[in-house]
Amino acid sequence: MPKILMVASEAAPYAKSGGLADVVGALPEALRVEGCETAVLLPRYRAIPLKSARRVYDHLPVWLGSARYDVAVYQASAAAPFYFLDCPPLFDRAGLYGENGADYPDNHIRFAVLARAALAVARHLFRPDIFHCHDWQSGLVPAYLRTTFSTDPTVLAIKTLFTIHNLGYQGLFPRSVLPEIALDARVFHPDGMEFYGMLSYIKGGLFYSDALNTVSPTYAREIQTPAYGFGLDGVLRARSQALCGILNGVDYREWNPETDALLPANYSARDLSGKQVCKQHLVNEFGLQPEAMERPLLGIVSRFTEQKGADLLEAIGGRLAQESVYLVALGSGEPEHEDVFRGLAAAWPGRIGVRIGYDNALAHRIQAGADMFLVPSRYEPCGLTQMYSLKYGAVPVVRATGGLDDTIEDGTGFKFWDYSPEALYGAIRAAVEAFGNPENWRAIMLRGMQKDFSWPVSASAYAALYRRLLRQP
Ligand code: ADP
Ligand code: GLC
Repeated sequence: MPKILMVASEAAPYAKSGGLADVVGALPEALRVEGCETAVLLPRYRAIPLKSARRVYDHLPVWLGSARYDVAVYQASAAAPFYFLDCPPLFDRAGLYGENGADYPDNHIRFAVLARAALAVARHLFRPDIFHCHDWQSGLVPAYLRTTFSTDPTVLAIKTLFTIHNLGYQGLFPRSVLPEIALDARVFHPDGMEFYGMLSYIKGGLFYSDALNTVSPTYAREIQTPAYGFGLDGVLRARSQALCGILNGVDYREWNPETDALLPANYSARDLSGKQVCKQHLVNEFGLQPEAMERPLLGIVSRFTEQKGADLLEAIGGRLAQESVYLVALGSGEPEHEDVFRGLAAAWPGRIGVRIGYDNALAHRIQAGADMFLVPSRYEPCGLTQMYSLKYGAVPVVRATGGLDDTIEDGTGFKFWDYSPEALYGAIRAAVEAFGNPENWRAIMLRGMQKDFSWPVSASAYAALYRRLLRQP
């Protein structure tokens, strides 16, 4: 039975800013079914209560050079495989990565301590066959393992898999942090962790891991091209033999309109009447005009960042509102992208409704109440919201990139290719036209609702990858 220690900065339901948390939260249980024993190490942020957790290690010493960090490890509960790394000076803070739009200035230390603690956990608490690392926050695990600890017999044989959830976030820090994180200066090389004069934590993962994967087959190809590679396409092409794409799964225990306790009414493919109740509720909640009930209602739930296509909506939002296409959006992120949505809501009260913030229950209500769900991303490694929207009968309108292209097909949703307002507008118009034919529309909804992206398929792909990795010399 392969033993896996995942290292990540988010896992639902404990700490979440996006889809990474959904994946790390659900994959361990799905892997158990595949015969893998998985534990997850994540920081104990302030939002994670320790009330029901069990302290399983008291003073795990973590040294970064001459600086000592005294950490304790808690386990979420006896049954759950989640370990929380408790180090209050570093993680007992309001945010995960920063506050008020600014990153914490010591993020390099915070995630170096996470990586060193992962090695200590492997020594003292849970010895894995494989470290499965996720995104830049855990990129130092393979880097320390293959440099500082390359001759240490206790961790030497542990293999590493690095999963890229988003190449757009790289963890770049000045070279001067090297002594602070006690990392061998020899890593500061293009064939290592240097990235145009900066130290790149994600390159620690890309360069020093035994295997790499990302979260959809299309994104695995895209990131090997300059257009999607964020400057790392060369590194990824060089490692293409070690890189594959495994589509994320959906946790249908959380995301199923038949059983979802967060909705005003439940519904299923057999009986859709509850969906109208959900739509009415959403229309009221956002103060939309009553006419919205007869017209298409678009939904958006998203981090509001450069990645997610706010600029496309800014260009066409008014035109849609004029044509009585209604929109509700929930999200938070970068101020200029939040402002786009604030501006649209201010210009079109009653037609466009916006909530800035993070609200999981509202995210569920939007999926249930919307007729269509928009994901006009510039790039999208996998994307989970469009898979949720299929299940909720909110027909997705997506840009054909990454996992959006892999999960939405003709007949379950509407795609556009060019990253342009006109292309997005064209896809929405096609959807609105289809909406005008109730029978046809219902068939599209039902086809989407029948799609199954549940975890077993993805988990068995990960299990196969782990086993392949363990057979490698
Ligand atoms: P990403 O990880 O790039 O943000 P995904 O589509 O993979 O994109 O995952 C986003 C996840 O975060 C989904 O579970 C979505 O419902 C959730 N989410 C995003 N923004 C919000 C928000 N403002 N409030 C509640 N949930 C949100
Ligand atoms: C990232 C990506 C998203 C993906 C998620 C989980 O945040 O932006 O596309 O679904 O990670 O893998």
